Amino acid sequence: MQFPPTPLLIFNLLILTLHLNPLPILSLSLCRNLCNGITVNYPFGLDDGCGALQYRKMLNCSATDLFFQTPSGNYKVQSIDYDKNTMTIYDPAMSTCSILQPHHDFLMTDIQYAIIPPSPDTVFVLLNCSIDSPVLNHYRSLCFNFSGHSCDELYSPCNAFRVFHLFSNSSPPCCFTGYNTVKFMSMNILDCSHYTSVYNTDSLKGIGPLDWTYGIKLSFSVPDTGCERCVKSGGTCGFDTETEGMLCLCSSYMNSTRECAAGSFTVGGAPSHTPSTSFQTLVLALGALLSMILL
Ligand SMILES: *[C@@H]1O[C@H](CO)[C@@H](O)[C@H](O)[C@H]1NC(C)=O
Ligand SMILES: *[C@@H]1O[C@H](CO)[C@@H](O)[C@H](O)[C@H]1NC(C)=O
Ligand SMILES: *[C@@H]1O[C@H](CO)[C@@H](O)[C@H](O)[C@H]1NC(C)=O
Ligand SMILES: *[C@@H]1O[C@H](CO)[C@@H](O)[C@H](O)[C@H]1NC(C)=O
Repeated sequence: MQFPPTPLLIFNLLILTLHLNPLPILSLSLCRNLCNGITVNYPFGLDDGCGALQYRKMLNCSATDLFFQTPSGNYKVQSIDYDKNTMTIYDPAMSTCSILQPHHDFLMTDIQYAIIPPSPDTVFVLLNCSIDSPVLNHYRSLCFNFSGHSCDELYSPCNAFRVFHLFSNSSPPCCFTGYNTVKFMSMNILDCSHYTSVYNTDSLKGIGPLDWTYGIKLSFSVPDTGCERCVKSGGTCGFDTETEGMLCLCSSYMNSTRECAAGSFTVGGAPSHTPSTSFQTLVLALGALLSMILL
């Protein structure tokens, strides 16, 4: 005599055919939050679907480094400060006091410029400018001195920049300026052969160029999407990679729109999911529940 198949049996069979191991549910970390010693928290994300949508694909974790990706290249992330909302990056192709390298522009996307622009205490140093450079003429007012320093101070103490006045007694013109100058006028228009950048300029009073902090500090804004609520409920903030709607990632089988408390789950994510994916997820979720009850 045959028993009619019970719903439970059907679920278990389905689970067995879908996955040999029906309990991957116990792994809770859906988003990597560490890359080569640097903590990657909201709004940043390493895996697609993690972090804030606006920051999608901005970071790239390689085997040895964390990179900030821009249209002009990948820049090594040195640190991220989640209290001050700043990230410092370093352009390996940039000149510094100790190394002279051909210039290349530092370009950001419009979104990057809007949500993670260079901080006000990051100064771009244009060196060896031609006398026709706009910053020596019409746009002279874009140049300034910071913390008692003028840009021609760099020509003598820095091994890399001494070459600029080897053949003449005077130093070629230079300019300390803000990121906007570099953004709106490329290095070719600026007509300066080299550049470097320095951050934390407010605290460099009385300190010589050899000891300045070379690199770029970016100030990021954290989108107000209700992430705190999700984190408090034990979730990780992310977004649906197809609909781009915000998600609270609760476990590998459940995403919610806002928080991981009972009652607000949307199993299978947003409605854009194909029926089969949603069905699979539903079956897995129900099956997992049943297995737990049984065990
Ligand atoms: C990540 O950055 C490295 C180093 O620049 C690059 O080689 C690699 O292609 C990048 N990966 C992705 C997915 O963009
Ligand atoms: C400085 O700039 C001039 C053009 O204004 C250029 O010919 C020269 O090669 C530059 N010096 C160095 C060391 O690159
Ligand atoms: C910066 O300082 C130098 C040297 O002290 C001075 O000659 C120059 O006029 C100053 N530039 C600005 C824009 O204040
Ligand atoms: C939850 O969202 C993440 C990120 O979009 C996605 O990778 C994952 O498949 C989703 N899980 C479910 C069950 O929908």
